[in-house]
Amino acid sequence: MLDDLKKLKKQALAEFEKLTSSEEVQDFKVKYLGRQGEFNKLLKNLKDIAIEEKPKVGKVANEVKQAILDKLESFGFQNDKESSAQGQSSDLTLPGLPVQSGSLHPNTLVQYQLEDIFQSLGFQVLEGPDLESEYYNFEALNIPADHPARETQDTFWLTNGNLLKTHTSAMQVRAIQKYGAPLRAIFPGRCFRYEATDASHDSTFYQLEGLMIDKDISIANLIAVMKELLKSVFNKDVKVRQRPGYFPFVEPGFELDINCLICGGQGCSVCKQSGWLELLPCGLVHPEVIRQGGLDPQEWSGFAFGLGLTRLVMMKYGIDDIRLLQGGDLRFLKQF
Ligand code: DAH
Repeated sequence: MLDDLKKLKKQALAEFEKLTSSEEVQDFKVKYLGRQGEFNKLLKNLKDIAIEEKPKVGKVANEVKQAILDKLESFGFQNDKESSAQGQSSDLTLPGLPVQSGSLHPNTLVQYQLEDIFQSLGFQVLEGPDLESEYYNFEALNIPADHPARETQDTFWLTNGNLLKTHTSAMQVRAIQKYGAPLRAIFPGRCFRYEATDASHDSTFYQLEGLMIDKDISIANLIAVMKELLKSVFNKDVKVRQRPGYFPFVEPGFELDINCLICGGQGCSVCKQSGWLELLPCGLVHPEVIRQGGLDPQEWSGFAFGLGLTRLVMMKYGIDDIRLLQGGDLRFLKQF
């Protein structure tokens, strides 16, 4: 028995020297000192030895256990119950163990990049609620209850008449009411639509709205900011086209499309075979919206745009299926 105990000590100490991580140390502890561990297995034989031998064997057994515990503690391993019972504290000067950290979601990466760009242009970053009133989401934006534009933005309604916001434009009138004019702000945010899912549509997606209210704002201001934006995001010249677009809260309104970077303009499922992607609808703020914000449209004017943040992320990283972004698959997320 004494020999066995000595052998166990020698084996354990030699094995300990080869350990490299806290997981291995944990396994080592279980292997030797766990309830079914090597040490307890040996102690079971204690009942078979002569009674006069027992004190001596017991003493050696304690020494062996202590030697293993000392090693564990030297690794910074708190031998929980025993050490706290003895009033020992852990050594805070021991080197730390590596911690596994995550990474930012591609949406967040691009959002932060855009926030930096706009802050450098004097825009403030505001966040709105996901749960919005019908007034801010529609009526304040010149979309009354019977307006056909409502058909294009069905969403999830609550029984109290509130809704999950369909677009970040819902923040426009909130911001004007709160901050007045002149105003430069962006509103990144999550949007919701009640619609079938495919490679380029999801019921949840992200937009980044921009709003500038000042005196004598023209389309030239709008285009200058849009160009600056696209240049900074893609770090290269991207082919764009501008065409008239209808949105009740801007007049005139435009669609700024970019050449599909997934297929290079050949046509694919993301751009619905057209080679172009609607990315930046924009326009000059409708006088009615300015009025709803509490300002005089004779005095103040502005531009607004609603960037499809999710689409931009897909273009930037070459992601060909929108569902990957919210799927929570770590194999996808770990690439960023
Ligand atoms: N809110 C619109 C949508 O989700 C996008 C939009 C169009 C925003 C024109 C704007 C704009 O600010 O000027 O479809």
